[in-house]
Amino acid sequence: MDKLLITGGNRLHGEVVISGAKNAALPILCASLLAETPLHLKSVAALKDIDTTIKLLDTMGVKIARDGSEVTLDAGEVASFEATYEMVKTMRASILVLGPLLARFGTARVSLPGGCAIGSRPVDLHIKGLQAMGAAIHITHGYIQASTLHLPNRRLQGVRYYMDMVTVTGTENLMMAAALAQGTTVLENAAKEPEVVDLAEMLVKMGANITGAGTDVITIIGVEKLNGTTHNVVCDRIEAGTYMVAAAMTGGEVKLLNARADLLDAVIEKLREAGATVTSELDTITVKSDGNLKAVNIRTAPHPAFPTDMQAQFMALNTIAQGVAKVTETIFENRFMHVQEMQRMGADISIDGNTALVKGVPFLDGATVMATDLRASASLVLAGLVARGDTVIERIYHLDRGYEHLEEKLNKLGANVKRISQ
Ligand code: UD1
Repeated sequence: MDKLLITGGNRLHGEVVISGAKNAALPILCASLLAETPLHLKSVAALKDIDTTIKLLDTMGVKIARDGSEVTLDAGEVASFEATYEMVKTMRASILVLGPLLARFGTARVSLPGGCAIGSRPVDLHIKGLQAMGAAIHITHGYIQASTLHLPNRRLQGVRYYMDMVTVTGTENLMMAAALAQGTTVLENAAKEPEVVDLAEMLVKMGANITGAGTDVITIIGVEKLNGTTHNVVCDRIEAGTYMVAAAMTGGEVKLLNARADLLDAVIEKLREAGATVTSELDTITVKSDGNLKAVNIRTAPHPAFPTDMQAQFMALNTIAQGVAKVTETIFENRFMHVQEMQRMGADISIDGNTALVKGVPFLDGATVMATDLRASASLVLAGLVARGDTVIERIYHLDRGYEHLEEKLNKLGANVKRISQ
């Protein structure tokens, strides 16, 4: 397994191009199953999770052509309606094929995802929402077996549905399913994340009738068929946020290209509170800092509040800031896996339930560390960038799932990062 060797201490300077968002591309790729004609996507990042999704769609019979960051998907003929345990266990977002398969073909068999490193993460709301739309769903042998064959015209039926938790992929799954349902679906307490909006915008270009995406009530008037279109995946706000924190922590100046400040309000607010200067124009964001940061309290919550996917990175920032920060995680119950690793680098952090108390220390020391999820791994990279000496990050396949060309981008900014292949 590959490792990253980071020699800390360099200030980051220069420009970095932000990739298309992983969390937008995954549902968008799955939405290809809804279209009778080819879908052409641009700004699809070269990431492990994207490869996994493409492989999954390929096993179903979707014809796929990939050329750099462009992907064409033709789901004109689909032969299999199944996502196996092998697929879903490597990537939970595989659950996003459930809604499209059921809506277009009237049948789907998708493995239940198991537990995961950051918590139990059930998919009960995806299932209940589809049941509310009339689907017959049975859980057998660890699989969700879903069918609409008993329904009029074998189509899901529009419904008013209240989701009792805000769920991003749940909202996406139900929105895709409702796009081809008979009648009107109203999703209440919907997720407002920019990736939901990007998916909705693409579905509308495909012929769907969707309003309200980006608010907590989304209305979908079902149509009989959808066609392919061309779509540019929205930029990755979490990748952008990660480079912004890197610039602030190292006391550097970094300009992000293909980045949208309007998707990062809560993160920008916290960076300014920490003492960094953040400016933006059109599709660029610049972060400048002298490296003297103040501790900032963080409380994660659904968009537009502070994203859970940036919690670990701000924990890293707080480890070297002046003062004491309270970091509260409200979305996932077990998302502090990076804390023990940061402690090994000299951080002063104590955990009480879903809150971590971070007392800033003057410096971190390089160490060999390992993380069990994507954003935790990113936070350890940030810690390594400012630590004294060498940091070795193990199990970097997590980083390859979500950060395109991470070491190239960091090195271009002046960091000293080497991939050690084994
Ligand atoms: C998505 C993102 C992930 C991000 C998360 C929260 C993708 C591919 N992944 O994950 O990066 O960290 O949103 O912003 O977009 N829940 C239930 N029942 C359900 C569904 C969710 O109880 O049926 C709970 C979860 O356990 C969690 C909370 O709702 O506590 C939010 O999870 P959710 O928004 O669904 O996360 P994902 O969509 O899996």
